[in-house]
Amino acid sequence: MAQAITIINGPNLNLLGTREPEIYGTTTLADIEAMCVARAKTHGLSAQCFQSNDEGELVNLIQQARESAAGVIINAGAYSHTSVAILDALQSVAAPIMEVHLSNIFAREEFRHHSYVSGVAAGVICGLGAQGYEMAIDALATRLNSL
Ligand code: DQA
Repeated sequence: MAQAITIINGPNLNLLGTREPEIYGTTTLADIEAMCVARAKTHGLSAQCFQSNDEGELVNLIQQARESAAGVIINAGAYSHTSVAILDALQSVAAPIMEVHLSNIFAREEFRHHSYVSGVAAGVICGLGAQGYEMAIDALATRLNSL
């Protein structure tokens, strides 16, 4: 059976395509999820994609991934900058974690420069739009093949 990776998107990312397109682009979340499934398949991986606007629900999704996923890709949106609960949940995950942000958080407001997720991530990709998710899948596949 193909190894499964979990892709988790946080608050407001359901609005991709229409939300501040000058920052986040015009690609929708459905487009990104389809891209991720296709990219994972090229590596012989399956991808399960989730999105929630709710912090507790994101914690639940991370706890599920802890049981089942060979790797996790997460864009926690604004919770990246605020959520110790999401950090704690991610800390319990043994599988490699990749953090993705569509925008370059370091070129934006100061409060976006710190992410709680980064401290537990094997890698961080930001500023490359939807392509960042594909790059994160490639990086996870490389790590999983070398384990
Ligand atoms: C984001 C960056 C965050 O600062 C912001 O709150 C988001 C999206 C990104 O993908 O660029 O919602 O995570």
